[in-house]
Amino acid sequence: MRDLLLDLDPALGRRRAIEVALRARIRSGALPAGSPLPSSRALAADLGLARATVVAAYEQLAIEGYVVSRRGSGTAVAAGVPMGRRPSAVDPVDGDLRGRSRSLITADFRPGEPDGSQFPRSAWLASTRRVLRELSDARLGYGHPWGEPELRSSLSAYLGRSRMVEAEADHVRVSLGFGAALATICPVLASIGIDRVAIEDPALFLSRTTIERSGSTPVPIPVDDEGIDVEVLRHSGVRAVVVTPAHQYPLGVTMSPARRSDLLTWAAEVGGWIVEDDYDGEFRYDRHPVGALQGRDPDRVIYVGTVSKMLVPAVRLGWIVAPAALRPRLDAARALLGTGSVIEQLALADLLERGEVERHLRRVRAAYRSRRRRLVDALGRLDGLRLPAADAGLHLLVGLAEEADERAVIGRAESAGVALLGLGPHWAEPIGRPPALVLGSTRVPEHGFDEALERLVEVLRR
Ligand SMILES: Cc1ncc(COP(=O)(O)O)c(C=O)c1O
Repeated sequence: MRDLLLDLDPALGRRRAIEVALRARIRSGALPAGSPLPSSRALAADLGLARATVVAAYEQLAIEGYVVSRRGSGTAVAAGVPMGRRPSAVDPVDGDLRGRSRSLITADFRPGEPDGSQFPRSAWLASTRRVLRELSDARLGYGHPWGEPELRSSLSAYLGRSRMVEAEADHVRVSLGFGAALATICPVLASIGIDRVAIEDPALFLSRTTIERSGSTPVPIPVDDEGIDVEVLRHSGVRAVVVTPAHQYPLGVTMSPARRSDLLTWAAEVGGWIVEDDYDGEFRYDRHPVGALQGRDPDRVIYVGTVSKMLVPAVRLGWIVAPAALRPRLDAARALLGTGSVIEQLALADLLERGEVERHLRRVRAAYRSRRRRLVDALGRLDGLRLPAADAGLHLLVGLAEEADERAVIGRAESAGVALLGLGPHWAEPIGRPPALVLGSTRVPEHGFDEALERLVEVLRR
């Protein structure tokens, strides 16, 4: 049994007093990550309190991310809890902390990953347990080349319901995420004579490099506040394009209804193909999400979705719904790559069937909406920044003052423990672009968010 001396504030309720005391001990570093805490029974006995009071306090701290409870091994201090601020000998912004600074990052405002602390671990575990209990030995082989039928069927229902995607289960293909999907789609397009692929400019740089590494040529097409510029696309002579209609990455605009129609008309005119990267379509905060483009023309749109924002990238699963005309070539190309773990696919199918994915989405949507608003409010108080309109997604574009040096701002922020990503690398040609940041508000755990936000504001104010 482990001893732990806690100073309980008599002015607080008992449960709150335990929470406050434990938070303080953890944040001071006195209880480093991994430190086991006494069992609730032992701590209750030491403090002369009811066990339920200690259990409730532990549960609250677990929700906040301070501790983790594992059946059989008790409760321990979680990793990644930001420490209280300690006085530093070096000025955190102007001092030379370069080189050592990565390990000192305590406020990570880069985009790209959802909040891992929100991952529905218990639901995932319950589904995995169910799958392993029920899966026959015969199904522990290589699995179906299109992806497991249960997952394709639950994705077909989910995508129809929540993204207005038109897809029978037999038209869905399971993939390892968007990147892997694009790396398979490009050679398929090349095999029908399309080796120049248009891409929004700016875009996710990985999309551009994936096109290049697949042996095709990316053709950057500008984006305005309605989405990709279809006139420029028309004049480019390309016959395939990758777009992010629900929430453009990284600018954050939603493709307007007129632009959607125009893009579909272009595809029909040139006999072209639209790759729809629907990476964060579930996250719309001011109104109902905008449906997928694919639902309006399933014969021209190759729809690609992923768990990377909806759940976490670590699950490494995604899906492709391709037009019938491309499916045989796509299947031939995919045959070499496989579709990922049968067990994980079936666990995801079970989660979808039980409504756990949508329950999770409702929960994180509320959390992300609140963070986004706090971020917008805090940045709105600073002079010289320009904030975008679309209330959606997991990232936010923030224009810096015209004279600001984007890379210098990022470098200084990093020295102060604040990780940022600039807009620059997202352009095909970054020289001479206006300085801006692509901020993500979902990497910082909730318990550290307000403090991290203060640090961000402090850094940007300077
Ligand atoms: C624009 C965009 N598309 C797709 C993805 C997801 O890709 P993947 O499914 O390969 O994780 C991301 C993730 O950061 C993204 O920003």
